[in-house]
Amino acid sequence: MEMDVVFLLAFVVLLCLGASTQGNGDSFTVTVNTNGSYSIAVQGNIWLKSAPTFVRVNKQIYSTADGSLKLLQTTGTSGTDFIGKWQSTSFLYQADTCRFLASIYFYTPDPSIFSYNNPPEQFLLFKQTYLTQTNATMAPTVDETIAGFPGFVVEEASVPLGYLSYGGDMYGDTGKAFGQFGPKMKITSGIRSGPLSIFDRVKTANTVILSPASTFMSANLWQQTTSTGSNLYWGIMGGVSDMVPEFETSTILFYSNQGINKGFVSWGQILQKMYGRDNSLVKSDFTNNYLGYWTDNGAYYYYKTEPEKNYQDTILDIASLINDTGIPFRYLQFDSWWYYKGAGNGVKTWESTPQVFPNGMQWLYNKTGLPISAHNRYWSSDTTYAKQNGGKYLFLVENDKALPMDQTFWDDLLSNGRKWGLMTYEQDWLNVEFAGVPSLTEDVYLAEAWLNQMGRGATKNGLTIQYCMANSRHILQGITLPAVTQARASDDYHPGTQQWRIGVSSVFAWAIGIAPFKDNFWTTTVQPGTSYKGATEPYTELNALVATLSTGPVGPSDMIGKFNKTIIMKSVNSEGLILKPSRPATAIDNMIRRLAWDDFEGPDGEVWSTYSDFGGSNKYGIVLAADVHGNYTMTPCMAGFQGFPKSMVFPAKHPNKIQLLTDPQPLQMSGCTMVDFCLYYVSPVVTFQGHQVLIQGELDKWVPMSPQRVVDINVDSNDINVRITGGALEEVTFWFNTDGVSKSVTCYLGNTGDASMSYKEGGCQYD
Ligand SMILES: *[C@@H]1O[C@H](CO)[C@@H](O)[C@H](O)[C@H]1NC(C)=O
Ligand SMILES: *[C@@H]1O[C@H](CO)[C@@H](O)[C@H](O)[C@H]1NC(C)=O
Ligand SMILES: *[C@@H]1O[C@H](CO)[C@@H](O)[C@H](O)[C@H]1NC(C)=O
Ligand SMILES: *[C@@H]1O[C@H](CO)[C@@H](O)[C@H](O)[C@H]1NC(C)=O
Ligand SMILES: *[C@@H]1O[C@H](CO)[C@@H](O)[C@H](O)[C@H]1NC(C)=O
Ligand SMILES: *[C@@H]1O[C@H](CO)[C@@H](O)[C@H](O)[C@H]1NC(C)=O
Repeated sequence: MEMDVVFLLAFVVLLCLGASTQGNGDSFTVTVNTNGSYSIAVQGNIWLKSAPTFVRVNKQIYSTADGSLKLLQTTGTSGTDFIGKWQSTSFLYQADTCRFLASIYFYTPDPSIFSYNNPPEQFLLFKQTYLTQTNATMAPTVDETIAGFPGFVVEEASVPLGYLSYGGDMYGDTGKAFGQFGPKMKITSGIRSGPLSIFDRVKTANTVILSPASTFMSANLWQQTTSTGSNLYWGIMGGVSDMVPEFETSTILFYSNQGINKGFVSWGQILQKMYGRDNSLVKSDFTNNYLGYWTDNGAYYYYKTEPEKNYQDTILDIASLINDTGIPFRYLQFDSWWYYKGAGNGVKTWESTPQVFPNGMQWLYNKTGLPISAHNRYWSSDTTYAKQNGGKYLFLVENDKALPMDQTFWDDLLSNGRKWGLMTYEQDWLNVEFAGVPSLTEDVYLAEAWLNQMGRGATKNGLTIQYCMANSRHILQGITLPAVTQARASDDYHPGTQQWRIGVSSVFAWAIGIAPFKDNFWTTTVQPGTSYKGATEPYTELNALVATLSTGPVGPSDMIGKFNKTIIMKSVNSEGLILKPSRPATAIDNMIRRLAWDDFEGPDGEVWSTYSDFGGSNKYGIVLAADVHGNYTMTPCMAGFQGFPKSMVFPAKHPNKIQLLTDPQPLQMSGCTMVDFCLYYVSPVVTFQGHQVLIQGELDKWVPMSPQRVVDINVDSNDINVRITGGALEEVTFWFNTDGVSKSVTCYLGNTGDASMSYKEGGCQYD
């Protein structure tokens, strides 16, 4: 009876783990006691100890702390499903007359789910199931939870642990927190909570990631303050009052010994697998792939037109500028200035006003031929679409806001948008709508239905969706919606501000698979007559680079006449196709750990990495260091370049300054500011006819080796051939370094935009 269940799994030591690992080699141990308590240990050290399980029923709290939550039975079982093998322990509890099941599933996932070789990852799923109708579950505030399982005591572990907790809106960026896991920990709790990661200080961080794994829109992480410190609880948000029998919610606790970045990727791969995430639209999405002109907050033409002109004429001038300057903008973004506002400044009718576009949206679209990414916000209580206001559709109207309830509303709205060129629907103010319509936080299904209907409406109409001001819950729900292809990853742009710092939110983004968006940016420092109190943008290049490395939209927003074509063309090919890397650039693990611990030997500033992957050993790395105080030395492992072939690194501006990049010969960085940031490229060493050759690529682009340009790399004993693609007759200049000397090869693509570049011939061949 009193036998405790202990799950033990051994792991394999991988490259980069180094000698600093501690413990007995059992990487991840979960101890589950028959009395309902549990603990998590990593390499023999206890990281997390359970807090009492509790359930709110009939306005009372029933807790294992005082025995009011009665444990009736403990059972164990095991099985296999499409994720992998599992063993489980379930605790059957009674609270008043209600029954509640708390289960812990220990999964050993199928290795084929992961992109990293030899994954030692394991995870737990904590499931809560309401077995009976359970009433009056509501907590004092919506930010709490109506039941707590799992729950963990926040206290110092036997080894120092740090945390990164996402929170707030914009991909968990605005409320993110870092620090040492312990009594001083303070995270964004409740409705605005996000995934939490906990890591140690060993060379390759052991990492545990906790987040909801289902019912994303109604799940909270609540930091409960206690007399001695605090507890962390996952469960349904505090506003919910009645639970129906069989309602289930779950929380994932994911373990990785591959570091923070790779741990997040594997955690995201599990969630994506669970919901059959389809990322094909993220890859094919027009606005993720082509240069666009933006007019949102921070843009020169945000609620501002050219002098003496209306928006229609201003937009026409921008469109003709594409022809005049040759800057290949392929779509336009219209922000909130174009539609009718109603109560509480919500959207009343999602149509253009005659003041903005006197000839209408369709006329304008016919004239420019440019597709549109169009902004929308929360619906006002007087929206003309609602039956309450004489419209056609069922809406829930609460306070000054309204919530669409009919699938046909979305189908019709988005279908109508296609007539005027709508391509990406930008749903902004997601957090404000969620918190501002009380039923959304009182009902476990409503918010999910709202996003699902929007997502389905977009899919039916061949459109994609950008989320903006999304809480983590919206982002996680987005996993289930293939039309959601992009989401904002930091606060609104304003010239000269720091919102380019998306390296940490991009870790979350890359894990989930929805592309992070940096927002618009200026490419010229001074733009006369700006509405932003004379603000200037000293970091034009950094903003353009960050946008390009994000893999999300790239959207300059300059005043007419103030576009810097040189900067803009560094992001794209002649047709405006964004030359981006294979994955978003993300903050390296040691940057995150330095944010958690001042004394950690990480960079004092932003150091991010990414790469382009052409299969096999053809991996080309990129390192960005900006606003880094002092010097920083980074090995390839610290950059996340494990598994790369023998490579050399060089500064973007000095292709002759090549050096091997290995653990004993790390990259030394110094003087990396925001204006003069440090950008490095990493290329595999190719041995060709006795020479050491680096394919350095297109050095007049931010990403010199982009899968959007390079189709194939072929090295044999006769030649090195790089097949490239681009615009018809586009001029492409490529660099090769031979034994330390860089030389360029220029070629003009054929009419089809294809060519094969020959290293030996120093020119191009066409098929
Ligand atoms: C449950 O059992 C564990 C292990 O036997 C013990 O350490 C813990 O104090 C017990 N907890 C409660 C609430 O009884
Ligand atoms: C829960 O509330 C409903 C509606 O008020 C009521 O019919 C039902 O008897 C209640 N159930 C329990 C278990 O209290
Ligand atoms: C730009 O040029 C294209 C191709 O010549 C033409 O179809 C389009 O109407 C022009 N756009 C504007 C706004 O002048
Ligand atoms: C726009 O073009 C379409 C297709 O040619 C046409 O049916 C429609 O009437 C045009 N609309 C306007 C307002 O010019
Ligand atoms: C465009 O930007 C580049 C790079 O920052 C700069 O050297 C150049 O002077 C700028 N061009 C103009 C016209 O401002
Ligand atoms: C930082 O690096 C620069 C350039 O390599 C070097 O001159 C300087 O001495 C270094 N500073 C420190 C504190 O190591």
